[in-house]
Amino acid sequence: MSGAVADKPDTITSRHDPRFEVTLYKYVGVEGAHTLDAYLAHGGYGAAKKAFGMEPSEVVDLVKASGLRGRGGAGFPAGVKWSFMPPVDGRQRFVVCNADESEPGSCKDRYLMEDDPHQLLEGMMIAGYAIGATKGVLYIRGEYYHAYERLRDAIEEARQRGYLGENVMDSGFDFDVILHRGAGAYICGEETALMNSFEGLRANPRLKPPFPAQAGVYGLPTTINNVTTLASAVHIIEKGADWYAAMGTDDSKGIHHVQISGAVNRPGVFEVPMGITYREIIFDLAGGPKGPAKAFIPGGTSCPLFPFDDEHLDLPMEYAAVAKAGSMMGTGGLIVIPEDQCIVDAMYNVTRFYAHESCGKCTPCREGVSTWLPKMFQKLLAGLGTPEDVDLMEDMVSNLRGTAFCPLADACAWPVQTSLKYFRNEYEHLAQHGTPLHPRKDRWQS
Ligand SMILES: Cc1cc2nc3c(=O)[nH]c(=O)nc-3n(C[C@H](O)[C@H](O)[C@H](O)COP(=O)(O)O)c2cc1C
Repeated sequence: MSGAVADKPDTITSRHDPRFEVTLYKYVGVEGAHTLDAYLAHGGYGAAKKAFGMEPSEVVDLVKASGLRGRGGAGFPAGVKWSFMPPVDGRQRFVVCNADESEPGSCKDRYLMEDDPHQLLEGMMIAGYAIGATKGVLYIRGEYYHAYERLRDAIEEARQRGYLGENVMDSGFDFDVILHRGAGAYICGEETALMNSFEGLRANPRLKPPFPAQAGVYGLPTTINNVTTLASAVHIIEKGADWYAAMGTDDSKGIHHVQISGAVNRPGVFEVPMGITYREIIFDLAGGPKGPAKAFIPGGTSCPLFPFDDEHLDLPMEYAAVAKAGSMMGTGGLIVIPEDQCIVDAMYNVTRFYAHESCGKCTPCREGVSTWLPKMFQKLLAGLGTPEDVDLMEDMVSNLRGTAFCPLADACAWPVQTSLKYFRNEYEHLAQHGTPLHPRKDRWQS
């Protein structure tokens, strides 16, 4: 592929498949695409200019009509969220871009920011115009240093040439972006913890309500969206709501970026229409599993896992169907787990992550996720567990769900709970024999 960046996976394999029209990722992997000149050369900032010719409420309505749903995990309709902003009353308002991207299995935002940073800035600008916010906050995870550099330079370039700052593109609209690096904590991706972190406070989630639209950054009206949610707005304005809504299904419109990792032959990020089946994603796009597989997680490690069987492989990638089958689309970070992987060890690995990332604010998460659940895993994996311990673990994860201050505890409980549902025999084998049923302990590596 000409222009591909060498150290990246083939992030845009779907580009070569005539079934797929690649839009957000069109310039990802293309050398030099990150500069303002390159962006302008293919019509960059044209969508923002078009939006400035519309009433802000028309922009909100257009995004509503497109059916775009948030791509940060929860899938909340973006236009509806924008319409929650209170009437303009002279107070400062913010549009926040959540670029914390810390969910294991997720990397779609990173490549877009590294290779096409102006696309994101334009998306933020459109959202800012729609909701009346003259300030954007781009909160990026600390580890994404290359993406940070690209964004920092893009912001500077845009400022110097009138694409950010006062009266952008002679539109009469002022818009600027504050780029803020996190210090590398998963909890900072939770929208209210993110706002605390941005304000210089400890990144503990805030109680909701009030929601960010009422009291967000510094207590002021705020809308928070994920990177690809905001970048999608550029194309929706440019090509229309009908163009976007025509892709996908009735329940889930438009496109999504599936990030596939684990035991597959061709890991990468694939831009695909909603409604495509998991079988097509794993077999056609990712080249199939590397050897027999036993499970897959559809949307990042915080999602319940599915067995690798016909019933689940044939599910369409859409919010309703995946929820009905017992999981979530999440960020689209799809992980394939090989047959010979010890599921107990894999879930211990997942638990260690959430245990480490819990902010410790509430008791279920601090005591359950960060303390007792890892201890139970350690006991089982050390060959010291009993069958009663398996029951206790099940009881513990079911009691964790829905009891914590924010969904981080659920994020830990869901995959463990479903691993117990589908692969309980592996837990029981460990408890009875002291050794794993499957020897493989190399975690997610294929
Ligand atoms: C523990 C936790 C971590 C999260 N991490 C992220 C993240 O890294 N990026 C993101 O966009 N959303 C993340 N979210 C979801 C955000 O709280 C929020 O729903 C999202 O930014 C809204 O944007 P969207 O509507 O465009 O999806 C996280 C949520 C939780 C509970």
